[in-house]
Amino acid sequence: MELEKIFENNKLWIQQKLALDKEYFNKLIEGQTPEVLYIGCSDSRVSAEELMGAAPGQIFVHRNIANMVPNSDLCVMSVINYAVMHLKVKHIVVCGHYYCGGIKAALESADYGILNPWLRNIRDVYRLHRKELEDISNEEEKYKRLVELNVQEQCINIIKTPEVQRAFKTRGTKVYGWVFDIKTGHLKDLNIDFDKILEKIMEIYRIID
Ligand code: CO
Repeated sequence: MELEKIFENNKLWIQQKLALDKEYFNKLIEGQTPEVLYIGCSDSRVSAEELMGAAPGQIFVHRNIANMVPNSDLCVMSVINYAVMHLKVKHIVVCGHYYCGGIKAALESADYGILNPWLRNIRDVYRLHRKELEDISNEEEKYKRLVELNVQEQCINIIKTPEVQRAFKTRGTKVYGWVFDIKTGHLKDLNIDFDKILEKIMEIYRIID
């Protein structure tokens, strides 16, 4: 994509927005009150707002390779803190996607340099669910299942934070795990049993009273 084209597109986009609503940008500068925090993959095929039909102002977005939530990553932890403590989002979504390059790389025996510690978090997910994964004989199914289990583990990482534990207790903020299927365009809710997982997780990770 030519960079000049991006600026041309931007001008057209402004015209389209103003044609529908003259006050469009004046409304945007008033602030944001998104109800959803979306943590997804950086993959260029998985657009956050577009696939959800969301407008600017509706979704607070964080994207990184393989939609990870390592508890020592200051970037994702800051996003969660800000979304929960200041924007007071109601829903926190981790959205993975099938055919994720990050997940695939973690399944390979290859040295990815600076990416190694990042991908190691995915290998940890594999180790935690090794029995289930190695019982799947079909390689593509195993790859897809690791995508789902990685989403689940990242949801658990979110629940480990005191901000989220407190937001759940005081206003019922919940965490959801979704997967986007590039092959069909479908967004799938993994229906992770938040209450059951929270109960188990809190036995170990409870921080608040
Ligand atoms: Co990906």
